[in-house]
Amino acid sequence: MLSTESLQQIDRAIKKYPQEQKQSAVMAALAIAQKEKGWLSNELMKYIADYLEMPSIAVYEVASFYTMYNLNPVGRFKLAICTNLPCALQGANHTVEALKCRLGIDWNETTADGLFTLKESECMGACGDAPVVIVNNRRMVSRLAPDGVDAFLDGLKNEKESV
Ligand code: FES
Repeated sequence: MLSTESLQQIDRAIKKYPQEQKQSAVMAALAIAQKEKGWLSNELMKYIADYLEMPSIAVYEVASFYTMYNLNPVGRFKLAICTNLPCALQGANHTVEALKCRLGIDWNETTADGLFTLKESECMGACGDAPVVIVNNRRMVSRLAPDGVDAFLDGLKNEKESV
């Protein structure tokens, strides 16, 4: 189900914890599995549960709690937008509406070209930079106002075309 390289990475993560607590590597294992497969199917989460000798439901609880894990296929760019109070007070909801309007999708949907997926997110601890968007779990975009949405999306599209 996973490549030898991914399993070696998971084994390295397991070694960071006492032998009888290999389930402590679950977050790392999920991230490694998602990096290889793009998203976490039920079968893949069951595989990880068996590998870490822990209940499948416990793996699902972790995977479903954090927005960085994809429980369904996502587009090339997953845009996670914080809608908690500090971001909302700085206009996050207007940014969300601009993104939805420009992309023609709602939360948890992916554009027909497979490029963009919209996810609602909890606080990312960067409230001073509100409204905040995280691209593909790694790149933070600060103070994204509605009038900056077109340039933001065009920039990502250009990245895709230059690859
Ligand atoms: S409320 Fe949005 S980053 Fe904290």
